[in-house]
Amino acid sequence: MDQGRTNYIGGEWRPAVSGETFVSVNPARTEEVLGTYARSQAEDVAAAVAAAQAAYPEWRRTPAPARGAILFRMGQLLEQHKESLARQMVHEMGKVLVEARGDVQEAIDMAYYMAAFGRLPNGYLVPSERPDMFCAAQRVPVGVVGMITPWNFPIAIPSWKMFPALLAGNTVVLKPAEDTPGLAVRFVELLVEAGIPPGVVNLVTGYGPEAGAALVESPGVAVISFTGSTEVGRLIAGRCGQLMKRVSCELGGKNAIVVLDDADLELALKGALWSAFGTAGQRCTAASRLLVHRSVKAQFRDALVERTRALRIGVGIDPEAQIGPVINREQLERIHQYVQIGQSEGATLLVGGRILDEPEFRPGCFYAPTVFDNMHMDMRIAQEEIFGPVTGIVEVNNLEDAITKANATQYGLSLSLYTRDVHRAFRAMQELEAGLVYINLPTSGAEIQLPFGGVKQTGNGNREAGWTAMDYCTEWKSIYVNYSSASELIRAQIDTQPDGQAPAPTD
Ligand code: NAI
Ligand code: MG
Repeated sequence: MDQGRTNYIGGEWRPAVSGETFVSVNPARTEEVLGTYARSQAEDVAAAVAAAQAAYPEWRRTPAPARGAILFRMGQLLEQHKESLARQMVHEMGKVLVEARGDVQEAIDMAYYMAAFGRLPNGYLVPSERPDMFCAAQRVPVGVVGMITPWNFPIAIPSWKMFPALLAGNTVVLKPAEDTPGLAVRFVELLVEAGIPPGVVNLVTGYGPEAGAALVESPGVAVISFTGSTEVGRLIAGRCGQLMKRVSCELGGKNAIVVLDDADLELALKGALWSAFGTAGQRCTAASRLLVHRSVKAQFRDALVERTRALRIGVGIDPEAQIGPVINREQLERIHQYVQIGQSEGATLLVGGRILDEPEFRPGCFYAPTVFDNMHMDMRIAQEEIFGPVTGIVEVNNLEDAITKANATQYGLSLSLYTRDVHRAFRAMQELEAGLVYINLPTSGAEIQLPFGGVKQTGNGNREAGWTAMDYCTEWKSIYVNYSSASELIRAQIDTQPDGQAPAPTD
């Protein structure tokens, strides 16, 4: 896609009206430019929204099984192109190849899952308190859905948001992250190949405060779905509140793994390494807190440090690499700042804690996997999302203490607990305050057929994926039909009650 012709509006690839562009680079080799993309502004967003509005009536009336069939073809295309998409993802986003394949697989699973909803029931038949009355409630689309997505799951996240919205009969404008526009272009190209009609899916590439903010402001957009930082989420949710616009936010996490004294330590270690350092810690479900029982702490800590040292860091395309670069230099510096904050707060740095600048890592955004000990829940590194390969150990005394500490953050996305004791496991399942709870599993690793999302400041009550996937972009329409042949008005609550006789006129 040359000269920044990367906006897909009303079925046509176009540059930004201003002609301005920006580039996408490889985070493992920052001098390697991967492509040039349209730097969209409000006028581009307005055109995309207008195209989505124009396409809406026909798409809404298209039978749901036909909409599902397009998603099914999208699933097949994603499968067919899985390897090349995964490789492109390694270059544009940095995650290692096996993880990139997993990211695409999530989209494949989501496509097939949502396609089936085209033939599943879409409402309820409800009894009436009145005779000869048909009552039903039906899920209906809302119109144009605006999607603002992050870079950490560049194929999976757009698919979670888009496939349910499309199946439900909405049309879409996607504003992908500025770090991964190339994958968004590929994703939309495949949707076009799958048969999505012009205007049903529109893409505007560009920066958050420009194209993203314009999408939020656009009066033609009925719903905004956002995944990203808490800071931007607050901004968007606040603005949507003023505009009376629906908004779904999936924000930060400060996830924890609890390791009790009866845990399978080998299993817990494997889980901790995966959740702390997988995707270089850039998952909303990453475990940046390890709450370890004091009686097993020394053993757990020593093994964790040893295995952290042994992790292989490198360019994601290298089959030996276990951890790739972080997304960009700004994030690299932000992560390093958090490590310095942790040290100044009195946490003990056990391993890592530095930007990797040896020749094989230059010029790239690589951070050494980092483990702190003696982290306390009142420290900033125990409270704030770091979004990098950094984790810390907090000592806990018993199950009660572990649950209290696990819950002691503003976030509530994913919490996990390792134990062999069924009583403790079930206690934890009830008491942990999170949208996702795992027992004897790490904090990352959700499957698409279950609801995904968090409580407290992680979100605003919405869930993606699962049978709840369409909730954010649909409304319920209740329908009443009187099929009685009598010319009689029967009022609900009044004429159906013995005391409901209409009062006789007094004069
Ligand atoms: P961000 O929240 O700034 O970006 C996410 C998306 O929002 C991007 O598409 C961006 O263009 C857009 N955006 C930014 N400002 C906007 C605005 N004013 N109006 C509308 N859209 C806007 O996230 P960023 O800067 O990439 O990362 C910063 C931190 O956010 C990370 O360190 C991490 O803590 C958190 N984050 C969390 C994610 C998660 O999965 N929970 C994903 C990405 C980031
Ligand atoms: Mg930002």
